[in-house]
Amino acid sequence: MCGIIGYLGDREATPILMESLKRLEYRGYDSAGVAVLEGHQRADRHTSVTKSESKVDVLIEKLQANMPTGKLGIGHTRWATHGKPTYVNAHPHTDCTNRIYVVHNGIIENFAELKKELEAAGHEFTSDTDTEVVPHLIEANYKGDFLAAVRAALKRIRGAYALAMFSTDDPELLVGARLNAPLVVGLGEHEYYVASDITAIIPYTKRVLILGEGEVAAVTPLGAEVSTLDGTTVKPKLVHVDWDVSQAQKGGFAHFMLKEIHDTPEAVANAMRGRLTDDGIVSFREFDVEDKKLKGYEEVLLLGMGTSRHAAMVGEFLIEDWAGIPARAQDASEFRYRRPTFGPKTLAVVLTQSGETADTLVGLHRAKERGALTVAVTNVFASSAARDADGAIYLHAGPEIGVASTKTLTAHMVSLGLLSLRLATVNGRVSLERRRELVTALRALPDQVRELIDREKEIAKIAHRYSRYRNFMYFGRGLGYPVALEGALKLKEISYVHAEGTTGGELKHGPIALLDKEFPVVAICTASPTKDKMVSNVHEIVARNAPVLALITKGDRSLDDVAMDVFEMPAVEEVASAILNTVMLQLFAYHVAIKLGQDVDQPRNLAKSVTVE
Ligand code: F6R
Repeated sequence: MCGIIGYLGDREATPILMESLKRLEYRGYDSAGVAVLEGHQRADRHTSVTKSESKVDVLIEKLQANMPTGKLGIGHTRWATHGKPTYVNAHPHTDCTNRIYVVHNGIIENFAELKKELEAAGHEFTSDTDTEVVPHLIEANYKGDFLAAVRAALKRIRGAYALAMFSTDDPELLVGARLNAPLVVGLGEHEYYVASDITAIIPYTKRVLILGEGEVAAVTPLGAEVSTLDGTTVKPKLVHVDWDVSQAQKGGFAHFMLKEIHDTPEAVANAMRGRLTDDGIVSFREFDVEDKKLKGYEEVLLLGMGTSRHAAMVGEFLIEDWAGIPARAQDASEFRYRRPTFGPKTLAVVLTQSGETADTLVGLHRAKERGALTVAVTNVFASSAARDADGAIYLHAGPEIGVASTKTLTAHMVSLGLLSLRLATVNGRVSLERRRELVTALRALPDQVRELIDREKEIAKIAHRYSRYRNFMYFGRGLGYPVALEGALKLKEISYVHAEGTTGGELKHGPIALLDKEFPVVAICTASPTKDKMVSNVHEIVARNAPVLALITKGDRSLDDVAMDVFEMPAVEEVASAILNTVMLQLFAYHVAIKLGQDVDQPRNLAKSVTVE
């Protein structure tokens, strides 16, 4: 997501902010900006704001031409979530009096209601961002004590934030705060930093305070004091970071892909943030279609390519199963050359993490031409898909740098779960009780993914053993089928080992001929209505001497002494199981590829965004 940096110290802030923003560029961004407090005397004290609605380099050119001087400043690279990437939407944001300056990473869930309340009280907003409520809320709570006003304001905010802030009235106070988004405080010699990412500050200091959830850091020339929103002082964790810049960008992980798999709990939580009530009522801000209108759609077409096509298949299953609406997932590159039969009663859902895949965009245009209502489910704000579709559902997964999609797929799956729940609700196909069950299942996912990732060593051990094979078959039924296809895709694209995916039923119609003791099979056998069928298939496979790695639900003994390896997954709702199984197979593929010495972040012949047919 966005990158933030704050500086308070003996040196000039602007060059430090510029360098830090350059180092945060790798996360992807659409605009950037800095605010620096200038002037020593109270009378000439003011804040200078410089923004670029495009590259960090453009911001740097502007700053070099007109360099603000001052020892306190904040900077930001923006990855838009609310409001287009424009000059006014670029951070820092300020209050009505231009005294309070804020940069933010995260999503403020209740910004619309806060904005309404603040506007009613006379506050004037200039941007479309969720962030702008923060300076105004601080202004509304300001009674001469900036820190107290920040605490009071933050108590009102729901969602995720990492913030760096200062007030023109307090030249020796830099404030940082976090909730559900990371923030660190760097401790230098007579200088301090607040940053969303250690990468920003790595050349300046190795001593870093890690802020806890809901904590606020008040940084002054005397040091950094951390407290809760209630003002209770806490002792933050001090860590010594000896990473270089490249290690820091990867959060200390060996590869972006691994870091991004580890980002999944946050990505999954962000995909739900502010969209789901306890009663399972779903709303999407940028796809705000009335219930009555949504109810009128008689079929759903889901388009995507590669991993996103597998997401489409998950959507197809869930929409049909939960909402009872005919749904079909299609390869966008095939769809574009067909003579489709649908029209204005069709909802076309376009899945694309980049928002720029050429075939998917043409599919979207064709669907629009035929009068379908279109919605893009994408990770990139104001991408071509988001701009061209009638609505957008943003993944909010944060930038994905590894070429192979990982966290964006799981965020796609969660988003499709929400869309399916919305369609099921407007069509009266799901009871309140069932909705609540699904909410509980979805909300439990971030922790369940975390627990699964904690078992990475166990997965790596299995992967290392299987890395000697040159061919793999993955198979599943129901939701397990797209999961199997994705498992096979992930393995082949990063390890260059041949892998294919099929359904349990299809197995006997050909693929089984391939199997022998050198052709292992990965079987998705976690609890589902077709689990027993999967177990029978595994018996058939084992009879052909093929080694089987089976994903099973904890406590299920039906494949003991049958499969060569069983990997226990938690007993959860089927949709949650599909997501957890996907993460397990991503880690499996990653560790096979690493064992084989492949470049997992930039696999040969592949590009992150396929903008040609
Ligand atoms: C595989 C992968 C690709 C993409 C596909 C579509 O790991 O990343 O298969 O899923 O190129 O890309 P998007 O989602 O950007 O449309």
